[in-house]
Amino acid sequence: MARIDNTVINDIRNKADIVDIVGSYIPLTKKGQDYLAVCPFHDDHSPSMHVSPNKQIYKCFSCNAAGNVFTFVQNYEDVSFVEAVKIVADKIGYQLLGGIQNYSNNKFNKEKEIMDIACKFYQNNLDTSLGLEAKKYLVARGITEDIIKKFQIGLSLDNKDVLSKLLVKKGYDNKTLVDIGLIYNSDNKEQDFFNRRIMFPLWDKDGNVVGFSGRIYRNEDLPKYVNSKESYLYKKGQTLYNYHNAKKYVRLSDSVIVVEGFMDAIRLVCSGIENVVALQGTAMTKEQIGLIKKLRCKVLLCLDNDEAGIKATIVNGELLKQENIDVNVIKLSGAKDPDEYILKFGIEAFKNVLNNPVAFLEFKLNSIKNGKNLNNNNDLAIYINEVLEALVKENDTILIDVTLKDLANKYNVDLSILRNKLNELRGVDDVRKELFLEKKVEKGVKKTSYDIACEKIIYYMLVDPKYIKEYQKRIGYFVNNLYRNIANYIVYYNDEVGKIEIADFISFLFDKKEEYDKILEITNQFNEKISDENFINYVRIINKKMDEDEIRRLKVKLKEELDVNKKIEIAAKITEIKKRSV
Ligand code: CTP
Ligand code: MN
Repeated sequence: MARIDNTVINDIRNKADIVDIVGSYIPLTKKGQDYLAVCPFHDDHSPSMHVSPNKQIYKCFSCNAAGNVFTFVQNYEDVSFVEAVKIVADKIGYQLLGGIQNYSNNKFNKEKEIMDIACKFYQNNLDTSLGLEAKKYLVARGITEDIIKKFQIGLSLDNKDVLSKLLVKKGYDNKTLVDIGLIYNSDNKEQDFFNRRIMFPLWDKDGNVVGFSGRIYRNEDLPKYVNSKESYLYKKGQTLYNYHNAKKYVRLSDSVIVVEGFMDAIRLVCSGIENVVALQGTAMTKEQIGLIKKLRCKVLLCLDNDEAGIKATIVNGELLKQENIDVNVIKLSGAKDPDEYILKFGIEAFKNVLNNPVAFLEFKLNSIKNGKNLNNNNDLAIYINEVLEALVKENDTILIDVTLKDLANKYNVDLSILRNKLNELRGVDDVRKELFLEKKVEKGVKKTSYDIACEKIIYYMLVDPKYIKEYQKRIGYFVNNLYRNIANYIVYYNDEVGKIEIADFISFLFDKKEEYDKILEITNQFNEKISDENFINYVRIINKKMDEDEIRRLKVKLKEELDVNKKIEIAAKITEIKKRSV
């Protein structure tokens, strides 16, 4: 992996003021030496984010998001580090002369190269005489030539080894080709995994082809869709179809439409609605929710209009609401899915529904009513209880109040009984939440005085290079891997660059997640004046710990040793260390 030229990065970082760059995305207010903002990385209500012009870093005291100007842009725009550097350069009018362009942050270069070849191969097939029938099918479904290009739609052939032969001839190894699901081995022969299907590439969040979905187009008695098998490259639950295109459009409408099938997504894009992603089924995973959350917009759930779709709308809606995402439902009637709806009623009809979304709670309350006879007292009681259960999960107090009153009026139930019952249910829910929180705290390990001493020393090393020399002289290395790595990086960086600027050092660590997080924690945690006396104290704590460890090791050795002379030697060593450490 080619490294980014650090001097270029640092130069850009130096010329860009974090206050200007962050301020170009979110409003900042000055407070003392710092600036405050409502944190864009969690559901913040009061300004928890501090931006420091002195340190050129930001930190949210609520969700702990922190970093320098590049990481802010990286997370806010959901782009790679390199993209973020380019964006910042662009914002300050910095001319990038090569240097960064050939950088690749990609772990799977070979795999992606293969996927691109396969994708082009399939696309080309569709344009040959072998693709006429498939083209006809696409045209009949209203998929235009432009859309075929835009979504890189292709065709896998009836012949079962054309792609394998091509890839093997290009020198790609059998194992990789099998691993990423393009070929399989049968009787010592390579066979194409996909045959006789219209091929839809599947992309990761950044638009790299990581897999395919193939659809039958002749009236064959085969599964309608076949997808790439799960591999280190393709994980269905981590992709959302069209995400890389959609993220550019969500800002305009402040919303993303979530559909089930990629044909639905394609139909919407065909009709000029680009802020759409497809789940590829009804289930929504934690990773997919994470991707949606990054868009920081409201979600319009527009799943299929069948029982599975309605059930999934409720399950997924609740998962999204737990993440404080605003959820609304687009309710289509008279058609099975958005694709069919638009073909049947036209895009204007669809836009009309889109502009009148149903609030998630309302959708849920309606579905609770389904299948119940509310003239029957038993059913009515179940219904009211289920409504109250749903209200426990609602945060909007006005909506809750209106719903309760409505319920009381419509079914002639005492309002105070409803309120009491709701509070009772809430109590149970609160206890559940508290238990959950306690568990979380238990999991967090408390820092020992040794940990704190290591962190302080790292802090000193960052603030004044004189302590880097002191560290090398008096300590040499930390036993703890993470601290040792960081100290080594500091030593290395200081040797290379000749000085340490915290905000630059952060860029240097950007692809080392654990070290990166720790450095931010350390630089934000301590703000004190440094002194030689304190430094010496921290060194003492560390040396004492190292001595204790050494004594423990020697005592074990002493027990196991059979030779008397050697035993005496070890005992003497222990005494010496004990003396030294007092
Ligand atoms: N799907 C799948 N495997 C199947 C069926 C469906 O992976 N055997 C996924 C596909 O990603 C598909 C989505 O589930 O896009 C929705 O399925 P379905 O509603 O059946 O597909 P449609 O979008 O209606 O497809 P088409 O209009 O082409 O029939
Ligand atoms: Mn369909």
